Amino acid sequence: MGKSFAYFYDTVMGPLEKRWIAHIRKKIVSGLEGKVLEIGAGTGANFPYYSKEKVERVVSLEPNPYMLDQAKRRAKEFKLPVEFHQGMAETLPFNDGEFDTVVATLVLCSVSDPQKVFQEMRRVCKQGGKIVLFEHVRTESKTLATLQDVLTPAWKRLCDGCHLNRDTGRYMKESGIKMVKEKKYFKGIFVEYEGINPK
Ligand SMILES: C[S@@+](CC[C@H](N)C(=O)[O-])C[C@H]1O[C@@H](n2cnc3c(N)ncnc32)[C@H](O)[C@@H]1O
Repeated sequence: MGKSFAYFYDTVMGPLEKRWIAHIRKKIVSGLEGKVLEIGAGTGANFPYYSKEKVERVVSLEPNPYMLDQAKRRAKEFKLPVEFHQGMAETLPFNDGEFDTVVATLVLCSVSDPQKVFQEMRRVCKQGGKIVLFEHVRTESKTLATLQDVLTPAWKRLCDGCHLNRDTGRYMKESGIKMVKEKKYFKGIFVEYEGINPK
């Protein structure tokens, strides 16, 4: 797992975070309640935006040990009690129906098996619980999607396995999650998804 990717991630993302992504993170995370699982939490970029009054518990899963170290520091800095786990979203080390909400931001682009990840998200989320994502995805614009296809092999090597052209919305729908929100930004390159785990 990329040591340099972990060290440079916050710095490289900094300008975009300040201008835009931080606002989306706040919007997505600040209203979450109950027991929340965040997969691929990275350096803990969402941690400042959880409401300590609303969440009962934040559980974080991240495979990259260098990201995990930074996330632990960030949780301390923001005094957010987080239960940390090192692991992969394809094999979540949690019981069925344990969480009220499962959240992931900018993660599905990097996992090796998105279908398995959605299956696992559904398994650990309560029936009727929420699955909330913010992702960059394959666009509906043919020209842009072709560009994403061309750039993805080099991008994957540079950015720790990240696919620019992943059709995350399709995988989410195919998993049986009931989609209740799909808000697109920048010609649909970035999308906020909210789904309900059906009964
Ligand atoms: C682009 S970073 C996003 C980090 C963070 N979620 C954010 O919004 O800044 C992608 C993250 O997904 C993690 N990741 C990659 N493959 C994963 C997998 N199979 N299961 C869980 N997390 C994974 C990476 O280690 C990395 O922390």
